[in-house]
Amino acid sequence: MIVLGIESSCDETAASLVQDGQKILSNVVSSQQALHRKYKGVFPEVACRQHVESIIPVIEIALKEADISREEIDLIAVAKGPGLIGALLIGLNVAKALSWSWDIPFVGVNHIEAHLYAALLDHNEVVFPAVGVIISGGHTQLLKIDTLGSYTLLGTTVDDAIGEAFDKVASLLHLPYPGGPAIEELARKGNPDAYLFRSGQIKERPLDLSFSGLKTRVLQTVKEESHLTEKKKADIAASFQKAACLGVVQRVVLACAMTQAKTILLGGGVSSNEYLRDLLYQSLPQANLYFPRKELCVDNAAMIAALGFHVYQRNKQGDSLEVEPMARLPLGVFPQRG
Ligand code: KG4
Ligand code: ZN
Repeated sequence: MIVLGIESSCDETAASLVQDGQKILSNVVSSQQALHRKYKGVFPEVACRQHVESIIPVIEIALKEADISREEIDLIAVAKGPGLIGALLIGLNVAKALSWSWDIPFVGVNHIEAHLYAALLDHNEVVFPAVGVIISGGHTQLLKIDTLGSYTLLGTTVDDAIGEAFDKVASLLHLPYPGGPAIEELARKGNPDAYLFRSGQIKERPLDLSFSGLKTRVLQTVKEESHLTEKKKADIAASFQKAACLGVVQRVVLACAMTQAKTILLGGGVSSNEYLRDLLYQSLPQANLYFPRKELCVDNAAMIAALGFHVYQRNKQGDSLEVEPMARLPLGVFPQRG
């Protein structure tokens, strides 16, 4: 079964062809990063307009690179949420229009669930229960995965997403957007113990996270340093990265202990961070840690197509043209607290 995946939930316009939920035939991503750099974050209206410009050419390139004609496509999968509503609308409407005119089904899938599938494109023998960790510019979620399609939310951020914190701290240090890769690179030259930073904890909710206090501490430190040398900037980047990553790693260790899970699936832009990966390997030496390959950590349509394949297998039917995009689309719900 050949699935065309379409992704437009934030600032990447992407299309991909995936065979049987596993084999990537093409994976085209048109990033808008350069466009949003001067705003130091994603400017929603600018993102929407660029999606309109890019989406058809991106789909055409994906078909060409895969050497697939439109008659060979069996299903269209598209991210229906969560994300920027106007941006989602463009991908969803294109998927609906193509589904109608090509007379093939389409399925709208959850973008966060798709990030978990990115790791499964390379590792398909997962033992459940597993812990899912989505760490990106828009999301920070810890999930218990009983089986694919069955999720319980264990913890989430109460303020900024972790990637957003990387982006904001990068901006304070006058580093380019997106900040994650720039912080990681600068941090290699710095001392992670130079400043005592910590991410926040939430009383009686040990698996929740908070990054806004950490960001404010970095802001204060930058203001207090009368002369911000390159060495000090590197030390701040390294100390921030250590604090943010430790916050995630401690929650993952706790989540594994609580759920008895030995497998961890990670996804989202921040999961490409090598410092974080090393910390996780050190902290969970017995666990199976499944990271997506680097190009599948960030937003892409291969993960959408792979998930769409499985959703369609499960439901045995596509969605109706009535499906609407959803800015918020929770993946799992918190269990009732006693
Ligand atoms: O998954 P993604 O492309 O988009 C969302 O769905 O949000 O993630 C983008 C985020 C940005 O905030 C970016 O700074 C962060 O992931 N990021 C990183 C790294 N690469 C990307 N953060 C830390 N270290 C990295 N190497
Ligand atoms: Zn994403």
